[in-house]
Amino acid sequence: MGVCDLIPDRAQAYGERYGLPWYRDYHELLTREEADVVCLLTPSGMHPRHAVDIIQRYGKHLVIEKPLALRLQDLAWMHGAAEAAGVKMFPVYQNRYNRAVQVVRLALQDGRLGKPVLGTVRVRWCRTQRYYDRDPWRGTWSLDGGALTNQGIHYLDLLLYVLGDVEWVAAATATQLVNVEVEDTAVAALRFANGALGVVEVTTAARPDDFEASISVLAERGTAVLSGIACNELATWTLEPGRLAEYSEEFPNAYGLGHKPLLDDVVADLLDGITHPVSFAEGSRAVRLLNAIYRSAEDGLPVRLSDRPESAQLGRDDPALQALYVRLPRATVPK
Ligand SMILES: NC(=O)c1ccc[n+]([C@@H]2O[C@H](COP(=O)([O-])OP(=O)(O)OC[C@H]3O[C@@H](n4cnc5c(N)ncnc54)[C@H](O)[C@@H]3O)[C@@H](O)[C@H]2O)c1
Repeated sequence: MGVCDLIPDRAQAYGERYGLPWYRDYHELLTREEADVVCLLTPSGMHPRHAVDIIQRYGKHLVIEKPLALRLQDLAWMHGAAEAAGVKMFPVYQNRYNRAVQVVRLALQDGRLGKPVLGTVRVRWCRTQRYYDRDPWRGTWSLDGGALTNQGIHYLDLLLYVLGDVEWVAAATATQLVNVEVEDTAVAALRFANGALGVVEVTTAARPDDFEASISVLAERGTAVLSGIACNELATWTLEPGRLAEYSEEFPNAYGLGHKPLLDDVVADLLDGITHPVSFAEGSRAVRLLNAIYRSAEDGLPVRLSDRPESAQLGRDDPALQALYVRLPRATVPK
């Protein structure tokens, strides 16, 4: 086991904190240390390249932070590489483990909520220029994407998890309070395959602080409002109004508490053969929805998910920026 970061201070800090050997170069780490699984938490747009490299050179399973990739073609590339090498990729959507999310999803699945009518997402967080200036990849189309991709994707994923596939979407985006190429504010209207309608509102231009990441589900027999900093509190639950506190959790921060059970499920999958609840295909759905939202905003037209719409900007090539995050193994470094 070991940790790695291109920036030595960061690698050293993590290594010392967890008592692990630390490296600047993942090739060195994976050559010297024994590992079955690699957790990949490099800049979002680098996930495909890093994942495929680690799969093809070292044959490791991967836990990949959201978003798995930015472009649909990269999802296919990663999937093909993993299939060929016989390894697994586990997406990180830790909010699926929130108690409130599980309760509402189950009630929709087993019919207690009746016909779904409307699902809404509201993310009102604060990311100032300082946040975007912290690292070269942030706020770029090539490696990050905007409020929808970096912050909103968790809640798009939850909407898909709870209410199922989306049929079409009509969206608009804007960059309001920061100087970056990507959006800090997005809105979308959508229709689910089950007939429900949806509304998405995601902004990182809330000031002066983070306020909420919430989802509402309105259905024939009741209403749920999941609120808090990351859908961790059940604020309204008309099926069991007396159990709000039991179904709510206190989160220390917006990352929540889901990483630990998610990693336990990875271990259970690999060691005990208990299939992980979130497959790579399942984790790819939010990337598809994301691309559809951007494409609709870019064209100013509604788009159907069945047409596999792709953003013209998200994940676009920027070799100079991408080069900042690549380190070749010594043997193949060009002379
Ligand atoms: N699940 C969540 O709630 C959650 C929260 C935060 C970030 N993330 C995701 O994690 C990823 C990283 O985000 P972050 O905020 O930690 O970014 P960050 O810039 O703080 O960290 C990324 C690190 O990767 C390192 N890196 C890049 N290329 C490398 C390489 N080739 N070898 C070794 N190290 C390399 C960088 O030096 C940097 O320190 C993003 O995809 C983000 O979306 C997920």
